[in-house]
Amino acid sequence: MTGYPKINLDGALVAITGAARGIGLATAEQFVAAGACVAIGDLDGGLAKEAADRLGVRASGHDLDVTDKESFAAFLAAAEAHHGRPLDVLVNNAGIMPNGPFLEMTEAMDRRQMDINVHGVIHGLRLALPGMIERGHGHVVNVASLAGKFPLKGLAVYNGTKFAVVGLSAAVRLELEDTGVSLSTVLPSAVNTELSSGIDMGALPCVEPEDIAAAVVRSVRSRTAEIAVPGYLGALTKTVPLLPEGVMRRVRHLLKDDAAISAVDPAVRKIYLDRINKQ
Ligand SMILES: NC(=O)c1ccc[n+]([C@@H]2O[C@H](COP(=O)([O-])OP(=O)(O)OC[C@H]3O[C@@H](n4cnc5c(N)ncnc54)[C@H](O)[C@@H]3O)[C@@H](O)[C@H]2O)c1
Repeated sequence: MTGYPKINLDGALVAITGAARGIGLATAEQFVAAGACVAIGDLDGGLAKEAADRLGVRASGHDLDVTDKESFAAFLAAAEAHHGRPLDVLVNNAGIMPNGPFLEMTEAMDRRQMDINVHGVIHGLRLALPGMIERGHGHVVNVASLAGKFPLKGLAVYNGTKFAVVGLSAAVRLELEDTGVSLSTVLPSAVNTELSSGIDMGALPCVEPEDIAAAVVRSVRSRTAEIAVPGYLGALTKTVPLLPEGVMRRVRHLLKDDAAISAVDPAVRKIYLDRINKQ
């Protein structure tokens, strides 16, 4: 994509939220392999530091709660101090996905999802963008979801948070025009991590965290606005909304679109839900 100053990943500083495990960790690994310095921030700071130790001298691990703006600011400051250079790339990746019928979800968990999945991203943008704009150089990747384009039964509030991130990202990208700073939104299908564990997503394609990581790293060069993974689902995000509701209902029925309610292994799912409840 022309119009943006090139970001050379060799020695660049990349900060990634929620990177102690899953997609964030795979992304940290691929940025380090591409020559970048990586700051791993996570609510699970111990695990973040262990991950950084494994990745070597170009990685650092930090405590981070993306819902707390001061904690986020301290994370970015510590990343720049540790690696001795300003931030080149921020990956807003931290997120949670409780599942179940809308009317059975608790208000506390609704608010937690909004706080992490939406306000966490807003905090990251407000903290990282001013410096990037001043330098005329930088890239932000928001890890949203195809659930930010397609509603799914059993994930209503999660859908709401991801639709919010998709809209927020598109509008901020417009405001960044002519600043030299770019913003890409990555839209993964189901990904093989703890977040989706215990749910048989049926017809929904399931990819590996490394596939999302590769898309995030590629976006530093392409600066593409929205990147679906797998890529062919990108075309569906544009055509499916055009289908009449009756047709969609039949297709959804065939695809078993209520997997997040009806295709759940409670014992496996409980491990993930216990973790996010405890966190
Ligand atoms: N796994 C999927 O099927 C899938 C599909 C589409 C989109 N996504 C999105 O990808 C992102 C990463 O998901 P994942 O599958 O790797 O999940 P994961 O549960 O494996 O990892 C998420 C990490 O975020 C951390 N985290 C949670 N709350 C935090 C907070 N307040 N501050 C800092 N860190 C926090 C957790 O400790 C965890 O290490 C999320 O935004 C998720 O919505 C995942």
